[in-house]
Amino acid sequence: MESELDYHTALAWLDWQVELGADEAISEAPVNRFEAVQEAMTAPVATGPVAPAAVQVAEVDPVVEARKAAARAGSLDELAAEMEGFAHCELRQGARSFVFADGNPAARVMIVGEAPGRDEDVQGKPFVGRAGQLLDRMFEAIGMGRLAPDAEQAIYITNILPWRPPQNRDPHPVEMAMMLPFVQRHIELAAPDIVVMMGNISCQGLLGQRGITRLRGTWQEVMGRPALPMFHPAFLLRQPVRKREAWADLLALKARLRG
Ligand code: URA
Repeated sequence: MESELDYHTALAWLDWQVELGADEAISEAPVNRFEAVQEAMTAPVATGPVAPAAVQVAEVDPVVEARKAAARAGSLDELAAEMEGFAHCELRQGARSFVFADGNPAARVMIVGEAPGRDEDVQGKPFVGRAGQLLDRMFEAIGMGRLAPDAEQAIYITNILPWRPPQNRDPHPVEMAMMLPFVQRHIELAAPDIVVMMGNISCQGLLGQRGITRLRGTWQEVMGRPALPMFHPAFLLRQPVRKREAWADLLALKARLRG
């Protein structure tokens, strides 16, 4: 049958499906999931031996598992491997890439953002989309960047979550709680002099507080290190008038680095 869709409409539909995460054709023919559910509900229940209570699956606490996995990591490579293999966070199923970090791990400044977006999910690196490009320009303005080989000028970048949440929704508290032990271990292993928390989600994860408008520019402590909350570059793209405050924060950061 000839399709009624014109080329541009078909392409827009396809883009929309990819955006929702449906980026793979998994069968030749469509499946009516409503019928499948009906069949499952009316199918006879299997009557076999029932597993005794003692061998039924034990409940695991993902936060406890995350703490154990993070503690096992003795290096950044080991941490990346532990995180990538962590099976309890469902976001990994919907994401294309595991996004660990970028920049120079020896940097004096470590930036903690929120979670990968679409571009980061495609490229497997944090902060590479429009917000990331603004972040690069902000740090270039104070003589720093992710490609700098020297720890003084370098930055090291990661996120609270290593997998993209569907449609870039905010991370759920339970997702943040189970990934937090990894972020904390990440900070311990990278051992930066200063942590920069980009936006509300990062502050919520690392400080247990939201309210970036009040928090930005106020020095805090994270894992025993000075930590500076700043406006997220995605927010600055929407509210360019707030760049003045971001600039003040960058200057405060530079001054603190100079001691
Ligand atoms: N926003 C973030 O917080 N992190 C990224 O990696 C990209 C956008």
